[in-house]
Amino acid sequence: MSCCASDKSSDLTATMDVQSEGEVLDSVKEYYGKVLKTDKDLKTNACTGGMRMPKHIRDALSKVHDEVVTKYYGCGLVIPDSLEGCSVLDLGSGSGRDCYTVAQLVGAKGSVTGIDMTDEQLDVANKYKEYHRELFGYSENNVHFVKGYIEKLGEAGLKDNTFDVIISNCVVNLSPDKRAVLSEAFRVLKPGGELYFSDVYASKPVPKEVQENKVLWGECISGALYWDDLMKIAKEVGFTKPRLVTASHISIDNEKLQSIVGDIKFVSATYRLFKIPADVNYEATQGIYDGTITACEKGFVFDAQNEFKTGDVVKIDSDLATILRSTRFADDFSFQPTTDTDQSKAGCCLPTKENNADPFKFMEISDSCTTGGKCQLGGSCGSGGSKSCGSGGSKSCASGGNKSCGSDKSCGTGACGKKEDSCCKSKSSGCC
Ligand SMILES: C[S@@+](CC[C@H](N)C(=O)[O-])C[C@H]1O[C@@H](n2cnc3c(N)ncnc32)[C@H](O)[C@@H]1O
Repeated sequence: MSCCASDKSSDLTATMDVQSEGEVLDSVKEYYGKVLKTDKDLKTNACTGGMRMPKHIRDALSKVHDEVVTKYYGCGLVIPDSLEGCSVLDLGSGSGRDCYTVAQLVGAKGSVTGIDMTDEQLDVANKYKEYHRELFGYSENNVHFVKGYIEKLGEAGLKDNTFDVIISNCVVNLSPDKRAVLSEAFRVLKPGGELYFSDVYASKPVPKEVQENKVLWGECISGALYWDDLMKIAKEVGFTKPRLVTASHISIDNEKLQSIVGDIKFVSATYRLFKIPADVNYEATQGIYDGTITACEKGFVFDAQNEFKTGDVVKIDSDLATILRSTRFADDFSFQPTTDTDQSKAGCCLPTKENNADPFKFMEISDSCTTGGKCQLGGSCGSGGSKSCGSGGSKSCASGGNKSCGSDKSCGTGACGKKEDSCCKSKSSGCC
């Protein structure tokens, strides 16, 4: 146990009634309001997902106040491209790290709203509003925090069709009613809007007796959805099929907690879901990315299976064509009819024929890259047996085979954000 955690967190066997939404919410509030003081108090690495960050995001993050950053408990990078001018909502915004980072990317004309239910987290977030406004040079604050439940955004005053983008970092798993969260997110998104979020997923449904463990739930483990249930819920509430961006392993480095969990595996995964009117459907096409998204001038990584190099002609299936043509990305692509001789560029490593959203399969492929072999499950991995796996921009496997970086802990020069020190320190040994 961490030296800083309160006594309350030491009872690793404390249980709660997961059928009682109130009890779950109170337990989570206590965990994030009273038990955890900083990220060092966490017992698993579920809420500290490291992530290779593009430079413009690292630069923005470096301006966020230290106190906000030390209370960051996210599990992924929830900052999609092309945010200028957007209105963004952060579900479970915590101390506000992602909100203050995104505030710089949306610019003075954009806005960020963070919603959280825990007073202690909101207090830290609100404390630095003026500090960040001044630092960013904005005449008016473009970040606001509201207190409320992500299952009931209406009660917090959030109206239909309001936001261009919703982000969320390691929060949905903590909710006792995930369906309500996704349904509310769908409601408040504008048509063409996107939910881009990182969360923890299980390799199979988590049994009730494991869910009942308060610490495991608070640590973002036992409330995790079986990944395939996300596909079902997303469809039921009206979203497009989730597109997997990236995934990484989660380890429970505590024997007692591991024994409760048994053989269930957990990953942190980032998905993008779009709200597209049901009657909108485009045919398969050829698309050319025009290089117009800020910080993606050379290419744009859409998800684990689709990476567009600027100017390349790429075959796009009907699902992806519908997304690209109906969202904020529409102006960044030129489209032309498909031909028999089109130069389709196969994505690396993941099969391209279907939208494969299984994060465990992704990890299998990713691991096969890191062990130095060829990426096994479809796709080619670069010419001459070199193993560059472009998915999510985060899995650069060094040539030579055995000095590969793990799924999201690339130690490339300057690639490490504040949370990746341990990864950077081991850089000298070849990689993470
Ligand atoms: C793991 S932390 C992540 C915080 C933040 N996204 C970050 O990356 O630092 C979970 C946060 O979600 C909030 N939260 C959990 N369940 C919630 C709910 N049902 N409604 C509103 N906030 C919730 C907690 O209060 C906590 O601040």
